[in-house]
Amino acid sequence: MLIDVPAGSTAAGISVAVTPETARKPLLIGVPKETAAGEKRVATVPEVVEKLVKLGFSVAVQSGAGDAANCGDDTYRAAGAEVVATAAELWAKADIVLKVRGPSKEEVGLMHEGQTLISFIWPAQNPELMQQLAARKVTVLAIDSLPRTLSRAQKMDALTSQAGVAGYRAVIEAANAFGRFFNGQITAAGKVPPAKVFIAGAGVAGLAAIGTAAGLGAIVRANDTRAEVADQVVSLGGEFVKVDYEEEGSGGGGYAKVMSEGFQQAQREMYAKQAREVDIIITTALIPGKPAPRLITADMVKSMKPGSVIVDMAAEQGGNCELTEPGQAVVKHGVTIVGYTDLVSRLAKQSSTLYATNLFRVAEELCKTKDGIINVNMDDDAIRGLTVIKEGGITWPPPPLKAPPVAAKPAAMPAKAPKHGEASAPASAKSTAITFLVAAVLLWFVGAYAPPAFLGHFTVFVLAVFVGYMVVWNVTPALHTPLMSVTNAISSIIAIGALVQIAPPLMAQAAGNRPEGWILGLAVLGIALTAINMFGGFAVTQRMLQMFRK
Ligand code: NAI
Repeated sequence: MLIDVPAGSTAAGISVAVTPETARKPLLIGVPKETAAGEKRVATVPEVVEKLVKLGFSVAVQSGAGDAANCGDDTYRAAGAEVVATAAELWAKADIVLKVRGPSKEEVGLMHEGQTLISFIWPAQNPELMQQLAARKVTVLAIDSLPRTLSRAQKMDALTSQAGVAGYRAVIEAANAFGRFFNGQITAAGKVPPAKVFIAGAGVAGLAAIGTAAGLGAIVRANDTRAEVADQVVSLGGEFVKVDYEEEGSGGGGYAKVMSEGFQQAQREMYAKQAREVDIIITTALIPGKPAPRLITADMVKSMKPGSVIVDMAAEQGGNCELTEPGQAVVKHGVTIVGYTDLVSRLAKQSSTLYATNLFRVAEELCKTKDGIINVNMDDDAIRGLTVIKEGGITWPPPPLKAPPVAAKPAAMPAKAPKHGEASAPASAKSTAITFLVAAVLLWFVGAYAPPAFLGHFTVFVLAVFVGYMVVWNVTPALHTPLMSVTNAISSIIAIGALVQIAPPLMAQAAGNRPEGWILGLAVLGIALTAINMFGGFAVTQRMLQMFRK
């Protein structure tokens, strides 16, 4: 009897005869070195190899595949992967190939029937590649075709993970080209105003850029045609700048649409005003399937202050700025315009790790049995969306999603540092009750046994801690320095002690105890010093707060 079970296994203790043809062997995942010029990412990293092995797969990596992403051959070996010498060997033995970029013509030539490829494909833009792949009778999952609005799909959303990295890197590139600090500073050498950053397009990459620039201390403003992103901009520390024109900018599926001429005119006026005011502009505006909207004109560039920077993240799709040169950083009218198209590759370790995790999540969905065997289940909405070719048949585009998508926030929102004292998860009602009970018992003991003088001081102490906690913990960390200087000024309350000493007729005489001359002198000195502390403290606070005003 022949049964379709893993080789050598037994069923109910009975040995089963298994032939090589019928045994379902765990599949081998192959990871080749990327061949596209300038591509430094790799489709899996050693940490993820371990997880793939736990899912039952064997993993082979082409020698040198991870070098540019700081993942050497030895690290893959240590994680349980086999390292093979050549691309030809790898493509020949792999059942599933994980890649970043879509395969080149040569790579398509190395594919064999029954093989599965998971990578970026962009089927709408690459019909020829789709035909070539279909001719090889392979199965292709295009990571860019994931139905992103399915909340279950977020863990697999490589567009989001990579856009987040690009947004972060865009700010780093801007900081590198900009000749000043991002945050405002008052130093002995002078006052530095904070940099003003304007972000055009607050999608995943734009939001990541807002969070990063705000984290560096800049004043950040942002605009998007989709009004629903305004709250997200604010929650990341930015200010949403509206276009003075009423028009809904959402084109469906979380993406934008081409706006009316009237809107575009109003938007140009607002952008021109921002260009004159800000130091850095980062543009990320895209509309699926259309060239990038032209938002920054040559005149706007001319109007910017010398030394300003524009990072055009839409350079590959034609650029949001008229003067962008894709792939280059150029200086025009005294403004550095960065049009790099490899922002994600410039952070190769980070982007590879996130991408590898997205692909691992896809593998988990394909291999629910955890035995290294995949099932490309076309009844699963996420897998159906991803699968653009099934066993040689083109299955793209997928039918519309059966269930209405769950509107969810983009997963790549950069993690905002929790405020001081902000719990990561709400404490359960039970633990809160226990904390209160313990505190109440302790306070009862103190009240019952401590001397009355101690109780007075203790009450003041507890109130001071409570007030301090409420004041300091709710202040944005960026405002802690002005807060310190104002509390310093407030601490000049000690002036009251000196005033008490200096007002003998009212205070000391009443006690029949006129202060000595030297005490009076010290009190006057105390008042003079504390006055400097008080007025100086308030003046410095005022100056510091001025730096945060937009
Ligand atoms: P994208 O890269 O296609 O576009 C970037 C941004 O440019 C978008 O926010 C778009 O509204 C904006 N834009 C387009 N034309 C513009 C113009 N003329 N002026 C100003 N801004 C303009 O989009 P991305 O970042 O890939 O995703 C867009 C949105 O999709 C996300 O912000 C999110 O709301 C949604 N999304 C939802 C997900 C989910 O529900 N799980 C996952 C990922 C994205």
